[in-house]
Amino acid sequence: FMKRRKKWSRYPPGPMSLPFVGTMPYVNYYNPHLSFEKFRKKFGNIFSLQNCWTNVVVLNGYKTVKEALVNKSEDFADRPYMPVYEHLGYGHKSEGKSFAKTVFLYMCHSSVVTESGLVLARYGHLWKELRKFTLTTLRNFGMGKKSLEERVTEEAGFLCSAINSEGGRPFDPRFLINNAVCNVICTITYGERFNYGDETFKKLLTLFENSLHEEVGFLPQLLNVAPVLLRIPGLPQKIFPCQKAYTDFTQKLIDKHKETWNPAYIRDFTDAFLKEMAKGKEAEENGFNKNNLTLVTSDLLAAGSETTTTTLRWAFLFMLLYPEIQSKVHKEIDKVIGRNRPPTMADQVNMPYTNAVIHEVQRCGDVVPMGLFHMTYRDTELQGFFIPKGTTIITNLTSVLKDETVWKKPNEFYPEHFLNENGQFVRPEAFMPFSAGRRACLGEQLARMELFIFFISLMQKFTFVLPEDQPRPREDSHFAFTNSPHPYQLRAVPR
Ligand code: HEM
Repeated sequence: FMKRRKKWSRYPPGPMSLPFVGTMPYVNYYNPHLSFEKFRKKFGNIFSLQNCWTNVVVLNGYKTVKEALVNKSEDFADRPYMPVYEHLGYGHKSEGKSFAKTVFLYMCHSSVVTESGLVLARYGHLWKELRKFTLTTLRNFGMGKKSLEERVTEEAGFLCSAINSEGGRPFDPRFLINNAVCNVICTITYGERFNYGDETFKKLLTLFENSLHEEVGFLPQLLNVAPVLLRIPGLPQKIFPCQKAYTDFTQKLIDKHKETWNPAYIRDFTDAFLKEMAKGKEAEENGFNKNNLTLVTSDLLAAGSETTTTTLRWAFLFMLLYPEIQSKVHKEIDKVIGRNRPPTMADQVNMPYTNAVIHEVQRCGDVVPMGLFHMTYRDTELQGFFIPKGTTIITNLTSVLKDETVWKKPNEFYPEHFLNENGQFVRPEAFMPFSAGRRACLGEQLARMELFIFFISLMQKFTFVLPEDQPRPREDSHFAFTNSPHPYQLRAVPR
């Protein structure tokens, strides 16, 4: 008892907790970074919050986040139980277990949960199996290899043609970029791409965008810590209509796909997963079941599309706002690649300035500002603070990407952050848009390839200019789980 009391006396400080609601009323859930900055100034880099009865610890600054995610990687590798996603099939609902049992199973042991998806999976055997399988399968389909690069290059060609058909008139590039990025991940996952302008795809895009908004605000946070409210019949569907519709949409893609499945010929990720499922009971226990196929593939699409699209939207916004940087990128492309040959990843080493610009876009865009929630896997210590097992951990990636002890001009777009005095490319360790450690982004390699090839292909063909008579676009971001630019228009003038 004394030992426990001593440990808890070293629990991170934080604002005073109120009965029942804890510290929830103090946090602005529409702009959490503002609240976090305020608490950080008052309590330091490691502070605690309380969502009703759930302990939450927020980690800030490069040193702290690195120490947790890299040096104590396993201690921080778990994910919290998220009841708000149960209606989508995550967890035991599909097995018909009672609510109490579901919570009990989650709390006790992750390996008994067989419907976990990948992104939200508890740390343990099941997550390891699925992550290993996903990485290997993506690699076999060319992730990091030539064939995927060719696919990205081909899609970049389609994107250039679509932008060319805008005829230099003002347009919002968001839909076309998203279409291209989704096509890459859809081809790998479902073996399907959508033509630009496709109505089905437009529907998917709208559903996904709205489903991100459904995650923001006070209510989802409250439901996660007081899941009993989700037992009210029909409530989850009412509060999260788009999330469900999005998962149903991906389910339809899989059903369509199954009709043409031939185990002798693996066309894509879904085929590889179906083959694994066909191995029987052991595979089932390792997470290769029908529900997980839907969850893992929709995880890949969700995790891989919005993030990459938003980063590219930031890239072209910064090109509009900083024409002198745009013209330096043009010069380097002309020198290294020329105007006709498509770019390849091998060009990257010869293009330090453009590479620095892409990295600075990711740093400034800060697309996943709060990372994904982690949870401590065991009791642990961080910089002298005690953090018990089962504590929800928020890694404030904004505080790393804008850490004033690391970056010379943290709040400015300054590609020189990634160049040394000889103009060579350098990558400071605090560059963590993909997070770090065991749960770091699984798609980093693919994302970096897409950013490089898409960005260069478009910059090679066009100069991006602000439409006359339109105000200078806003440089601040809009938070809805991701940090995205406010909608803007540009003109793509062929070079
Ligand atoms: C996780 C960022 C693209 C798949 C994450 C995390 C971040 C992130 C911050 C959370 C890591 C953590 O919990 O500590 C990004 C950014 C991207 C991007 C900025 C693009 C610029 C992709 C792509 C894919 C993908 C293209 C799909 C192939 C995933 C998955 C996870 C993840 C599956 C969960 C990993 C796990 O829990 O084990 N990503 N991501 N991401 N990302 Fe990405």
